[in-house]
Amino acid sequence: MPALGFGTLIPGATETRNATRTALEAGFRHLDCAERYRNEEQVGEAIQQAIQADLLTRQDLFITTKLWNNNHRPERVQPAFESSCDRLQLDYIDLYLIHTPFAFQPGDEQDPRDEHGQVVHDSGVTLVETWRALEDLVDGGRCKSIGLSDVTLERLKEIVAVSRIKPAAVQVESHPYLPEWHLLDFCREHGIVVQAFAPLGHAMEPRVVDDPVITSIAQRNHKTPAQVALAWAVQRGTAFLTTSTSPRHIRENFEISALPEDAMREIRDHIKTSVRFNSVVGTGVPGFIPRSK
Ligand SMILES: NC(=O)c1ccc[n+]([C@@H]2O[C@H](COP(=O)([O-])OP(=O)(O)OC[C@H]3O[C@@H](n4cnc5c(N)ncnc54)[C@H](OP(=O)(O)O)[C@@H]3O)[C@@H](O)[C@H]2O)c1
Repeated sequence: MPALGFGTLIPGATETRNATRTALEAGFRHLDCAERYRNEEQVGEAIQQAIQADLLTRQDLFITTKLWNNNHRPERVQPAFESSCDRLQLDYIDLYLIHTPFAFQPGDEQDPRDEHGQVVHDSGVTLVETWRALEDLVDGGRCKSIGLSDVTLERLKEIVAVSRIKPAAVQVESHPYLPEWHLLDFCREHGIVVQAFAPLGHAMEPRVVDDPVITSIAQRNHKTPAQVALAWAVQRGTAFLTTSTSPRHIRENFEISALPEDAMREIRDHIKTSVRFNSVVGTGVPGFIPRSK
């Protein structure tokens, strides 16, 4: 898996198509998608445009997509996978993730709610049962590897303990304000890749790119603060998924290079701020937590 990933959680069809195309032109070969983002079709169009323009071939790409919470019942997994392939116009998927460990009421509604506005969960399926259905997809040959997203270390250990095919990757929020060292250590031990989402803290306050430790390293090393946060992510052994609709930022985020070891230590030892920006890991409901500035 290329360590530099471009995330496609982008509101708007045109914006998705343009940003994905710009990311491919900038050199990104790893795209993170999801049925929940409701834009796999536009990502697929951007991929096709790039292939037709001879910019790349399918084999050059590493494509991740994800099973949403309303499709956890084993009999819904294969159809959900096929639909993602169709929308993305792909014959195979490199990595298929269970988007969250929370099963919602099975059906076409991605966000099923009761009359009080509460999410309707599905107690009729376990995470292990859903995992078994993903293992079957790998046996089918069109799904090259499988993994989990938004899981705690405890849930991950449960799956690792019982799985026939081990998770290849785990996608969680991670940045200098949420380094997830314990999860990373466990994954390293078990040969599981950690994909860090929101590597720039989703540009939310307190802003990772304004952190004095990050900005001072950036100044000393003639990089931008975003390049420092992204290089740190790769150098400590994670893949990152960053997102931008700005062509300048997209190119900047691909042009990263190694940090000196003392900078790596400084980020680990001197940054004391601790923030989780996205509440999905606790609820299964997507969304960055709004906070007052
Ligand atoms: N598994 C999950 O539950 C989950 C949840 C959330 C996200 N994700 C995945 O992770 C991807 C990335 O998440 P994210 O959007 O939070 O990533 P992020 O890269 O931390 O944040 C993106 C924000 O940072 C800004 N930005 C990007 N490059 C910048 C730069 N060089 N300098 C300054 N600001 C910059 C962007 O604004 P501009 O557009 O103005 O550049 C945007 O507002 C998503 O697209 C999705 O694929 C997964």
